[in-house]
Amino acid sequence: MPYRTGRIVAQAQPNIALVKYWGKRDLERNLPATGSLSVTLDALWTRMAVEFDPSAKADSLAVGGREAPDLLPRVVRCLDMVAGSDRPRARIESESNFPVGAGLASSAAAFAALVVAASRAAGVSLDTLSLARLAGRQSGSAARSLFEGVVALDPGPDDVRVESIAARGDWPLEVLVAITDRNAKPIGSTEAMRRCAETSPFYRYWVDRQGADLEAARRAVAARDFEALGAVAEQNCLKMHSLMWTSRPPIVYWNDATVGCMQAVRELAADGCPVFFTIDAGPQVKAVTLPHEAARVREALGSVPGVLEILHSGLGPGARLLESR
Ligand code: PMV
Repeated sequence: MPYRTGRIVAQAQPNIALVKYWGKRDLERNLPATGSLSVTLDALWTRMAVEFDPSAKADSLAVGGREAPDLLPRVVRCLDMVAGSDRPRARIESESNFPVGAGLASSAAAFAALVVAASRAAGVSLDTLSLARLAGRQSGSAARSLFEGVVALDPGPDDVRVESIAARGDWPLEVLVAITDRNAKPIGSTEAMRRCAETSPFYRYWVDRQGADLEAARRAVAARDFEALGAVAEQNCLKMHSLMWTSRPPIVYWNDATVGCMQAVRELAADGCPVFFTIDAGPQVKAVTLPHEAARVREALGSVPGVLEILHSGLGPGARLLESR
């Protein structure tokens, strides 16, 4: 392969699922049991730099300026898939402007950026869906961060299909992320999904109903029906967390401030404010709203005890190359 020398940098944004991916149908290929639907953010980013070094004896990885050997194996698997295992060894550096591993989809942004940087460094030309499928091998949600705006992922018969169903300018949704804990989550999503599939009495029902939720969310997006999207998103989020709560041993990612933020969002909505919440595998609460109400939502979340910080984002582009640096 025509490997490039020099540092290749790509950037991707995390995405927030409104219809969740929770459960795998093929562990080996990391294929999701169901479809999902998400929004790609713009204000949060991860940059991945890949530099092949023919003289290096081993791959190495730094995350936020620190060597991260524990995270290296997954990154190496991804690089091998994109560039082949006979590639030169590489130096990989990642940098994010938000807390990593705390339920903010940092792995989604990281692997989406990595496949883009690695394919350019290896001189392989792949379309966006192929890159998304490769990113999805390491983190199912990463497949969605290759695309902009509102993104739908269908499980497909053999591999996922992913597409943007609304460009970022088509529907100006805004997302406020209430950070309630900056520490890494106590249990990773792969292990948590496995436990839910094996022990929650509701797992089968969840899988069977996902298609209907996805369809309802797609319809709401097509009609720009904020209320309908919020209704399916909140219920879908709570169904996913119900699987966790009913697993053995149970998995509870929430803290007092998580619940406080949910309550604050419910109160705003009861007062006529267009807003709904969603929560991933972590204690942070993401409130989705429209631009004219973002300041009000921010203020309400900011007054919840235990909220450490609020991040604010619109919808953003898919993963892309930055100028080589
Ligand atoms: O892609 P993973 O393995 O990090 O799992 C993501 C799981 C959730 O964020 C909770 C849901 C989702 O669809 O993003």
